[in-house]
Amino acid sequence: MEQLTAEWLDEVDSTNNEVYRRADELDNLSVIAAVCQTAGRGQRNNKWLARPGENLTFSALVRFGQDGIPPLGAALQFGISEAASLSVSEYLEKEGIASTIKWPNDIYVRNRKICGMLTENTLCRDSVSRSIIGIGLNVNQVSFPPELPNPTSMALVSGHEYDLRSELSRLLPILDRRLRMTGPAQHDEYVGRIYRLGVLEEYSDCRTGERFVGKIMDVSPSGLLVVETKEGKLKEFAFKEINYII
Ligand code: BTN
Repeated sequence: MEQLTAEWLDEVDSTNNEVYRRADELDNLSVIAAVCQTAGRGQRNNKWLARPGENLTFSALVRFGQDGIPPLGAALQFGISEAASLSVSEYLEKEGIASTIKWPNDIYVRNRKICGMLTENTLCRDSVSRSIIGIGLNVNQVSFPPELPNPTSMALVSGHEYDLRSELSRLLPILDRRLRMTGPAQHDEYVGRIYRLGVLEEYSDCRTGERFVGKIMDVSPSGLLVVETKEGKLKEFAFKEINYII
């Protein structure tokens, strides 16, 4: 059975770009990891800044409906974010670091971001044919550029350094297992691990600019965030429609 398998590169622009360029020739479940990304990409067209040689930056190529990876309907593609976020959170837990998932797929330790993901899916009719799952996990970096609002790393949390290649070998089997089980059980687990679940906190609605106090109640199977305002009104948000005031 094919399993997620890593190839390390010394330097590349972005591991997501590299997997995209080589997608036709790479085996299913190939992973490209880079010591240094010269143009790492984040969400919302941001750059992903990670000091070379200190962090994990890698991307996995996953073809659905092959090699034991179940087919995935386009309407349930959020299951990929769930599987990837839960994998990193489970891995960190095994390393003794408690984390939560800031919807949709940032990993937080208390109020600080330790990991971000950029998942790029290709659809064929009503199904996801393949996904490039890019993960940036802060591992040994202990100082960050001031423009990053609230970063942390495994070393900052635990007080010790890690060997990047060994850590990737511990993380990949967890990701591999979870990519084979996208569905309702994993969805409930995902919701259970959400950052700020069920507590009154402050947000702003990016559609209107309005600030409000509310409680995250749920995430729909299609990936919408369900928030109940302090006044008791239920609101749903798609990605980029809500801003957390931290
Ligand atoms: C975010 O939180 O903004 C998403 C960050 C995703 C970063 C990873 S690092 C590996 C992969 N290659 C990229 O260029 N981006 C992702």
